[in-house]
Amino acid sequence: MLAQLDQIQTESLAELGSITTEEALEQFRVAYMGKKGRLTAVAAGMKNVPVEEKPAVGAKLNELRNALTQGIEEKQAALEAEKDAEAVKGIDLTLPGKPVPCGALHPLTRLRDRAVQALRRMGFAYAEGPEIETEWYCFDALNTPADHPARNEKDTFYLPDGRLLRTHTSTVQIRTMEAAKALPVRIMAPGAAYRRDEIDATHLSVFNQLEGLYVAENVSLADLKGTLEFFFHEILGPQTQVRFRPHFFPFTEPSFEIDVKFEAKGQESKWIEIAGCGMVDPAVFEAVSTKRGDELFDPNKVTGFAFGLGLDRLAMILHGITDIRHLIENDVRFLGQF
Ligand code: PHE
Repeated sequence: MLAQLDQIQTESLAELGSITTEEALEQFRVAYMGKKGRLTAVAAGMKNVPVEEKPAVGAKLNELRNALTQGIEEKQAALEAEKDAEAVKGIDLTLPGKPVPCGALHPLTRLRDRAVQALRRMGFAYAEGPEIETEWYCFDALNTPADHPARNEKDTFYLPDGRLLRTHTSTVQIRTMEAAKALPVRIMAPGAAYRRDEIDATHLSVFNQLEGLYVAENVSLADLKGTLEFFFHEILGPQTQVRFRPHFFPFTEPSFEIDVKFEAKGQESKWIEIAGCGMVDPAVFEAVSTKRGDELFDPNKVTGFAFGLGLDRLAMILHGITDIRHLIENDVRFLGQF
């Protein structure tokens, strides 16, 4: 029996050495280790081996089985390595790869994300509201009476049911205050706004705003100024000049427009209007309080500031873009520059 096993070992290992294909290797495996293989047959004969020989024969059988299993695995690995080498023959793997064109975030998306990050560091939480709105959120609650020009059919997209596409993100101020559980309220709300504007180099009928609102006891104009100056320095660089110009909005008092100094190479520097802002008008707190039916936004107790800035305009200033339409045309020659 031992002699027979020795013979199988010599023969099988020699045979294994001469195998050159995966098919032949599989045949070999079946011939020795398969159900009807030679080794299996020998193992079945174990029961006839005299008891005193059993340990030696058993050990030998195991040794042979292990040798074959290992041999087959090594052969398999060698054959696969050969196949891999064949597949890349003639290819210089050390050459640098060809660049694969891949997408990137739109410049407006990147700017919005940066703006959100800058405000988040000052404690503003992210808020949202719907783009289809009621007149209450867009106008009435914002102290904008029915005869105000902004509510004109020529300026606003009305739906047949009387709702409208929001003309500004200030709607989110009201929605936030109506739902607030406690003070302070400090939110930012980026989103689309719609106006019936003629489309030209500086106007679109859909554009992107970023609204901010901070309400608490003792919020002051100094807070407003400090917050927005910090914000514009974060986005446009610490040298950027920012100025606040008195203005009028129905929902803030006093109100300002914010201009930043636009300096482009080879161009005369000029002030560009970038945002509206102001101290929340007590009439807005009044409207919110009436709707809520409680005192959280009592105009005699709370103050607040709000701002709304044009993200598209800001992107134009940031990148020196001269035509706002580039931002929506999806021309890869334009977008590829960012
Ligand atoms: N909603 C105003 C606009 O769209 C901007 C603004 C927001 C002004 C908040 C003051 C306070 O022009």
